[in-house]
This record gives sequence, structure tokens and C-alpha cells, in this order.
Amino acid sequence: MCGIVGAVAQRNIVSVLIEGLRRLEYRGYDSCGVAVLANGEPRRARSVARVADLDEQVRDTKLAGETGIAHTRWATHGAPVTDNAHPIFSRDTLAIVHNGIIENYEPLREMLRGKGYEFVSQTDTEVIAHLIHSLYRGDLFAAVRETVRQLHGAYAIAVLHKDQPHTVVGARQGSPLVVGLGDGENFLASDALALAGSTDRFIFLEEGDVCELKLDGVRIVDRDGEPAPREVRQVAAYGGAVELGPYRHFMQKEIFEQPRAISDTIPQADAFDPSLFGDDAPKVFGKIDSLLILACGTSYYSGLTAKYWLESIAKIPTQVEIASEYRYRDSVPNPNALVVVISQSGETADTLAALKHAQSLGHVHTLSVCNVGTSAMVRQTEFTFLTHAGREIGVASTKAFTTQLVALFVLALTLARIRGHLSDAQESSYLKQLRHLPAALNSVLALEPQIIAWSEEFSRKENALFLGRGLHYPIALEGALKLKEISYIHAEAYPAGELKHGPLALVTEAMPVVTVAPNDALLEKLKSNIQEVRARGGQLYVFADSDTRIVNAEGLHVIRMPEHYGLLSPILHVVPLQLLAYHTACARGTDVDKPRNLAKSVTVE
Ligand code: F6R
Repeated sequence: MCGIVGAVAQRNIVSVLIEGLRRLEYRGYDSCGVAVLANGEPRRARSVARVADLDEQVRDTKLAGETGIAHTRWATHGAPVTDNAHPIFSRDTLAIVHNGIIENYEPLREMLRGKGYEFVSQTDTEVIAHLIHSLYRGDLFAAVRETVRQLHGAYAIAVLHKDQPHTVVGARQGSPLVVGLGDGENFLASDALALAGSTDRFIFLEEGDVCELKLDGVRIVDRDGEPAPREVRQVAAYGGAVELGPYRHFMQKEIFEQPRAISDTIPQADAFDPSLFGDDAPKVFGKIDSLLILACGTSYYSGLTAKYWLESIAKIPTQVEIASEYRYRDSVPNPNALVVVISQSGETADTLAALKHAQSLGHVHTLSVCNVGTSAMVRQTEFTFLTHAGREIGVASTKAFTTQLVALFVLALTLARIRGHLSDAQESSYLKQLRHLPAALNSVLALEPQIIAWSEEFSRKENALFLGRGLHYPIALEGALKLKEISYIHAEAYPAGELKHGPLALVTEAMPVVTVAPNDALLEKLKSNIQEVRARGGQLYVFADSDTRIVNAEGLHVIRMPEHYGLLSPILHVVPLQLLAYHTACARGTDVDKPRNLAKSVTVE
């Protein structure tokens, strides 16, 4: 998704800006650009290709300056063409980069046209540029503050003006923005990761903040214009570059990192104590009577899986909702519910908005399950459980998902214990199972060669069905999502019992049907569903537990899972589905880590 980098320094900062964009590249974008003040004039380079192309352009044109802003754009208003790429200028006087969406851009554009402003792009961003220009009276900070008061929607912006050397002004509302502090130089970015090469001291701006970067310091005011002292945080973890090592893609590397990520996420403690979620959690967790889980995409599927655990182990009613739907429907708030938001990035706009909506309805207790400790979601919730997946670069989520599952399993056990549904013996048995998970996962990863053999056949298909039952229905959903998003094969998932209510009509020899078949209470039912597919000539690809007695036969292809894992089985069964999607995408030659049209962190609604 869109990325922002800005800097003021007493050296040429173009390479800092380009390096920042490179670090944000993995999030997905379709054009990029950079603008600097060069001899008192804003100059820019823009590209609809990669950041490497932009870098070549700035070298060829010798673009240099000590004040600059840069951007990777993921198109929302207007196609990904050069005219729409940021930085956007207003009358060759000021330059702006913008993440987010301005909802009232149409009336503002009409008003500005009336004042004689010409629009050369189709972006909503150009409205902000001209608005700042129209309000500028020699003070960029004041003009930006006045401008943002007129904007509806979400934005993070960085602006420079030809008359204000060594000054970059930023503002945020609904999109993240972070200040990086240097010695005699300062930076701005949509993600601290972009500045990792330049500083490890950050200020995470809050909603409504406006900031002004100068060489010798940073001024921040809140939405009311009051000086806003914000905490400076030292975050060294952003330092190291992420290397691909022996892997072909980051997605493959991240699939293979799962045993380590899971082991890092499992709490060290010998008991499931609410204090794992925050100091006040022991007081609050005992009082809650239900859960409301809000998330998007893969994170939503981890919530769906957790519902089975929470209701069966902790006996607590659990509702799971797609964040973007929840916020726009009438719902009945329950102040005794714990609202759980699940997110890899902690910056997903839909999930953040759903959290805010829940809070506005009177929900008081909130928990984030998140992979980024400095994210907005973590800062906006009462309790937190951090997953330790490490940085996930591939757009398709893999290790973030399995570590979320671990976190949610720990939540289910914690609530079960506090509600009197977990004996000491059960607690130590679950702990043992959790601790054995990394080893069990390694055995699943060893199935890769068999999965590669299947992926050759899948790569020639245009459709696939995924079936699961119970706990494994969300895993089938996740398998279908992985396949479609990186291989572009149309894939749908169904609870296997639903097959005969419609989707069976799709089953022919050309339709591979992937089935997750653990040895659980629903196995016999699932076997019947498998027969329904075989009887219609469908090709079944089954990931079966070793003791299920499902064996290879005509139209029935079986990969045997190394061991049955009880309630934790979804964490093992999703891994071969990740590998199947990955190798199918490789066989089709798609851009696995950066699938078309997608972005890593979806910071617009
Ligand atoms: C799919 C995927 C997305 C994300 C979704 C939510 O592979 O990665 O569906 O899960 O955009 O993102 P987070 O978890 O960052 O809130």
C-alpha cells in the first residue's frame, strides 16, 4: 500500500528517500516518485515502474536536495500513470505526498476550480495540494493545519514549499505517520521501517497530529492546535535488513520460518495466566461474558478458527465479524464483551475503524493480537498479545496466521482456566502439545516434495474447490485465499457438508477438490462428502491424518500428515495448503511476493 518518506538534512537526502522507498516496496505499489527542493525550486522524478527505475532517473538527472519527500502509490483515485504519481505539485510552489482517501474531494475540487486552480491529475491528493496553496500566507505549518480541518477521510501527508527550505510538514488522521529523529536532521515516514537505515529514535504521531520537521527539531501539535509532547521510542528491531537466504521468495522463507515463529510466540510461563495479556487482564478477564472478534482477510480466518476453541474449551460465546462489515451495520453492544482485534500489521484501516466503532458503541474492554508492537492497534487497545512472527515481507500472510492461531489458542486456554473449565492436568497437557508444535511443523514442511508434484497439475487449472469441516473449515477458506491471491486460480472453500447444497454442480474431472481430513469427530461425515465428489468424476487431493484410512485410488490423491494433532490440528493442516499455493504460483510464474493489485498493509478503507 502507499508509502511516505520525508527528510530535512544538511546533505543530499535523495539516497535516503530512495532507500526508504525500497524498504516499503514489499507492501505493494504501482507508481513511485520523489521531490526535493533544488536551488529553491521543487523538482521531482516519477515512475510507473519500480523504485529501481526511479533511482536510475534521479541518477541520470542528478536530482539532489537537502529537503525532500517521496512516495510509493497504490492507486485509488485515478489510474497508475505518471500524472497521478506523487509527489503532486501545486503551481510549482509546493509538493505533497499522501496516503489515504479524501472523501470530500469533489466539493473541494469544485471550490478550488472556482478560485482558478487547474487540475492535472485525477487524484484526490491534488485537492490537498491546491488547498494548502490557497491557504498559504508565508507559514506552511499554519496552512497545513488550516487545510486538514477541511478534509474528511483518512490521510497521512508530507509537504514541502519552495519558500521554506529545510522544512517538511506532516499530518495524520486514520493513516499512520512516524517521525524519525536524527542529529541535525529529521525524517518522516508512514512506517518506521522505512527509516531504519537513518535512525532508531521514533515518535509515533497520534490521530489529528500535525508536525513540522526542521534541522534542529520537530514541532508537534494535536488536532486542537495545542503543543503535543509525544514519547520518543527507541526501536532497534527495525535495523537489520531482511535477507532471502537460500529461498526463492520471501513467502517460501516465511513458510519455513513457522516453527521458529511459533516457538517464539508460545509463552514461556508454565500456566495460562491472564497477565500474559496485560497487567489489568486478571481483573477484567474474569468479568467478561463473551467475545467479539474483528479482523480482515487471513486474520479474520484465524478468528473463525479461534471461535471453535473459545466455545469448546472456554465455553464462552464468541462472535467473529469481518471488520469492514461490522462498522457499517447496526449491532447490539455488550459492555461485558471483550473486543478482540487481530492483525499482522496493526495498521489495517478497516480493522482500526471497526475497533473505534466498537469503542464508540460502549465496548470498553479491547484486546489486540498483533505482530507489530508499535502499531496503532496496539496503542489503541487495553490489552495486547504480541505474536513474534518477525517481519513478514511476502504479501500473502503465512507465519503471521499460524502465530495468530497460537495466540488465540493461548487466549482460549487462559479464559478456560479463569472460568473453571481447565483442570491442572489438561493445562499441562495443552502446554506440552503447544511446545511440541514446532517439531510437528518441521515434519509437515518435509512434505514439500510431494506437494510440488501436485502443484504441477494445479498450475494447469483455472478453478479449485477447498473443503473442510468444523475447525478445519476456516483452514479450507485460508487455503483457497492463498491459492487465488498468488496463483490467480479461482478458488472457493466450503464446509464439506454444504457441497450437495449447490457447489457439487461445479464438480467435473477438470475441478480439483482439495480436502483437509484430520482424524476428528467429523471424519466419517467427511469421507461421505469425499465419495460424493468421486462419484461425479471429481479429482480429490486430500491432506489426511495418518490414521484416517483414506488411501490413494482412482481420482483420489492423498498426502499423509505426519501426526494427528487434536485441537491444534488447524495449525498443521494450513501449512501444506500454503505450500500448495506457493508452488502452484511458482509453476505459473506469478510475482509470488507481490501479487498483482494487492498490498501488504491495507491502510485505506
Ligand atoms: C492474505 C492477507 C490479507 C491480510 C489482511 C489483514 O494473505 O495477508 O488478507 O490478512 O489484509 O491484514 P492485517 O492482518 O495486517 O490486518
